[in-house]
Amino acid sequence: MKISETIKSVRELVNTARKAGKKIGFVPTMGALHIGHISLIEEAVKQCDFVAVSIFVNPTQFSVGEDFQKYPRPLQADLEICKKAGVDVVFAPSIKEMYPNENLTWVNVEKITEPLCGKSRHGHFRGVATVCTKLFNIVVPDFAYFGQKDAQQAAVIKQMISDLNMPVEIVVCPTVREKDGLAVSSRNQYLSRQHKKDATLIYKSLQKCQQMILAGEEDVSVIIDGIGQILSQSPAIEIEYISVVDAQTLQNLTKISGKVLVAIAVKIGSTRLIDNILVDTNE
Ligand code: PAJ
Repeated sequence: MKISETIKSVRELVNTARKAGKKIGFVPTMGALHIGHISLIEEAVKQCDFVAVSIFVNPTQFSVGEDFQKYPRPLQADLEICKKAGVDVVFAPSIKEMYPNENLTWVNVEKITEPLCGKSRHGHFRGVATVCTKLFNIVVPDFAYFGQKDAQQAAVIKQMISDLNMPVEIVVCPTVREKDGLAVSSRNQYLSRQHKKDATLIYKSLQKCQQMILAGEEDVSVIIDGIGQILSQSPAIEIEYISVVDAQTLQNLTKISGKVLVAIAVKIGSTRLIDNILVDTNE
């Protein structure tokens, strides 16, 4: 496995693979890799002939007061994981390499960046869309892999690819969970033992909501109440949003129909957690 810190060298490696007729898979990450990331890498290794993983804690997607400084950066352990998973190149650039000068060009995806996490994380999706555009321009992959865990991010990237005719196919992989249902996240390590236990209520409430929808409940306010009741079992959980939206447009629904995304964001202590489920009522 090669490790590349410069744009020039990763481009050369990918170009050589492409010239040899290889399909290029790409998994963008911020490191602190866990089984969620590994599932994306494994899917890429399965579907492609050459796999690049980027590890870059992107400063432009963090707002002031968020966890950019304390975001975990266990690079050696991450490299071991990538090597074991069969990655061909890890691109781990410095901030200077990615943003050598003041950045004046930004990718702004409208509308679907406004609800859900967009409400509290101002500028977050602008930073994500911009860095993903830069990474796609650097790696030029055939396929790029994203997790359903960050449903809004995946929707934003898909919209951007379509609107800007970027020649890459987005593959969205299912959310990987702990045994107790908690969605695996690099931020789970900030949680105390008790708070980790409280956090399992998030998926419990989503499962309950899925049952309600599949049992025929169509009233979104009833579903949101049901979720709220389960989350309120822990006084440590502070709800940021419980939203039931159209899975593609991310616009709020009042009545359940079609492909529905139920998304939750909470704070437990100072840790912000998100999770979601997709329910297809047509199935
Ligand atoms: P990061 O949080 O490191 O996540 C990298 C990818 O792993 C994302 O596509 C995310 O959805 C996926 N992922 C995280 N936890 C997962 C889980 N439990 N199951 C399945 N997939 C999971 O998302 C980012 O980095 C950044 O915003 C990035 C796209 C790299 C741009 O900087």
